[in-house]
Amino acid sequence: MSASPQDEAEGRKLRIHIFKHNPRDPESTPQFKTFEIVESQGMTLFIVLSELQQHQDGSLQFDFVCRAGICGSCGMIINGRPGLACRTLTETLDSDITLAPLPAFELIGDLSVNTGKWMRGMSERLGTWIHDKETENASLDQLEDRMEPELASEIYELDRCVECGCCVAACGTLRMREQFVGAVGLNKIARFRLDPRDKRSDADYYELIGDDDGVFGCMSLLGCEDVCPKDLPLQSKIAYVRRKMVSMATK
Ligand code: SF4
Ligand code: F3S
Ligand code: FES
Repeated sequence: MSASPQDEAEGRKLRIHIFKHNPRDPESTPQFKTFEIVESQGMTLFIVLSELQQHQDGSLQFDFVCRAGICGSCGMIINGRPGLACRTLTETLDSDITLAPLPAFELIGDLSVNTGKWMRGMSERLGTWIHDKETENASLDQLEDRMEPELASEIYELDRCVECGCCVAACGTLRMREQFVGAVGLNKIARFRLDPRDKRSDADYYELIGDDDGVFGCMSLLGCEDVCPKDLPLQSKIAYVRRKMVSMATK
């Protein structure tokens, strides 16, 4: 008997192993739960998780906002590697897919972690905004200094970070040093150091990141750059910040 057009159109059967745990429920024990779903064309992990939540387990917790790789909320460990679920096509993966929450962040439940809390803490600590005492009270038109287009695009390139936390999850240093600012933090420092509107001096920056929780904690493990979904040049920017700080330390 020949296969019907419907059978032919039917895709692989995927087995999705999902980490399940509710840290607020004393009865809950961390475990993996396996689901089965038939793959469809152009299926992303966002579609998989939405369908599973809708049809198989309404209690599944995970985060999505934009579904377009812009908000950074859907970072998770996909077959052992941090990545954005909304940008991951199932056709790029084996039919057995394991999903776990990003480590290093507070677990909210299942695949949902509190990256926002971590990022806010890091941003406040590093002061990731333009610091310029002289213009703090200036009107907006006074702030319009001309910037060379090359420099503006270099800064723009670093501003593409979506704070997904993948680089943090991929970094071995963070397992040893909880206060390490991570590649995301060092990238932000590079971004503001390049910006002529930020009037902080090298000494100010040294105060912020001239130690093992800052740039000297980075052991050049490179996992951050490998997994960054925005392909940011993290390695070269960390090296740039390190050079600045070393020259400061040897002055
Ligand atoms: Fe995500 Fe890349 Fe930003 Fe790290 S640097 S938070 S991996 S976008
Ligand atoms: Fe970590 Fe990246 Fe440095 S993975 S150790 S921040 S090069
Ligand atoms: Fe926004 Fe994936 S849902 S980056």
